[in-house]
Amino acid sequence: MQDFSGYPIDEPPHSFISNSLSVDAQTLQKQIDELSTFSDTPAPSVTRILYSDKDVLARRYIKNLMGLAGLSVREDAVGNIFGRWEGYEPELAAVATGSHIDAIPYSGKYDGVVGVLGAIEAINALKRSGFKPKRSLEIISFTSEEPTRFGISCLGSRLLAGGEELAKALKTTADGQNMSFLDAARYAGYAKDQDDLSSVFLKKDHYFGFIELHIEQGPILEEEGVSIGIVTAIAAPASIKVDFEGNGGHAGAVLMPNRNDAGLAAAELALAVEKHVLESGSIDTVGTVGILELHPGAINSIPSKSHLEIDTRDIDEKRRNVVIEKIHESAIAIARKRKAILSEFKIINQDPPALSEKSIIEAIEAASKELNLTHKFMISRAYHDSLFMARISPMGMIFIPCYKGYSHRPEEYASTQDMANGVKVLALTMAKLSLQ
Ligand code: GLV
Ligand code: MN
Ligand code: MN
Repeated sequence: MQDFSGYPIDEPPHSFISNSLSVDAQTLQKQIDELSTFSDTPAPSVTRILYSDKDVLARRYIKNLMGLAGLSVREDAVGNIFGRWEGYEPELAAVATGSHIDAIPYSGKYDGVVGVLGAIEAINALKRSGFKPKRSLEIISFTSEEPTRFGISCLGSRLLAGGEELAKALKTTADGQNMSFLDAARYAGYAKDQDDLSSVFLKKDHYFGFIELHIEQGPILEEEGVSIGIVTAIAAPASIKVDFEGNGGHAGAVLMPNRNDAGLAAAELALAVEKHVLESGSIDTVGTVGILELHPGAINSIPSKSHLEIDTRDIDEKRRNVVIEKIHESAIAIARKRKAILSEFKIINQDPPALSEKSIIEAIEAASKELNLTHKFMISRAYHDSLFMARISPMGMIFIPCYKGYSHRPEEYASTQDMANGVKVLALTMAKLSLQ
């Protein structure tokens, strides 16, 4: 191996790498700032929706940087982007890393992006150090981690993990403007002649390991002054779409006893979500009504239709499922009481939690120690593409602190020092796994 890699005789490869790893955090910050300009809302907010013009430009930016890093780039039918650094034993399963570059409306510039641009910098740092990978190293920029456009979170990684139902459902899925998923994908240059998205699926153990670098999106690391979070598990997310219908009518002429106001049914259900979540008795149970739409949306018209989208999560899957059942019971009871129609109660996803793999956790921990960085084991309350990569690969995640734990808002921020630490740990972890 020493012939291949050029390591100094008698020096263990990992410490050789950790001593000579230098991360260019200024350039990384510059790239994050540049990428944030591909946005449909003004700075400091970022809005980058799947297959929009800005998303296509951002994808081009990422592919260009992957090319400059000497990676061979490929894209699959839904636009998951892969950049590969071939190892000297290319037939071995590769070590993969990555995250996403789409951004929910009015969010920040670090969520996901640190795990894509940071991964490219990690590869650059490894190349500068003289490291030669045995297993190939691969970066994935996942399509649509955020559910904004088609209501489906982690679309790219769900498909990679063999999401057959999703592949079928996407043939008939449309966005809020009634544009079909396939037309939107074609607009962005994907899914060209194929309706069949099964080409995206990867086989189990296609990768030797998958590691995602991400901002914590919570306050713990910053509050405790710890540099690196090592994720042991990712909480179980679920999302639900609900529609109520009533007669609507004139806001002045229809007297209160004669109404079946779909808007009030929605309002009551939103409060019921909060109640059921709090009833769980655990601080780990959360629920959010992030979308509440009324039709026709005029001040002097009783809402005849309402639409809610509910997000609920827990580290305990059973407890989360109890909350979903209670929300369903409440929706039925509210419709009955208000003489409205519950025209839809659709569970969009009800995912189990994922556990990180011991071998990956240990590699991240060893890398943190070697780099003299404080670390802490923690769970991820946000979901990530890692939740789905865990279905086909040993998985682990590296968290770095972010300002006050802010995320999904324009004030999101991670310091260059914290990003440099995260990139170094990622680089060293990948190097270790690559040589196994
Ligand atoms: C990811 O963006 C999440 O909502 O957890
Ligand atoms: Mn996000
Ligand atoms: Mn994210």
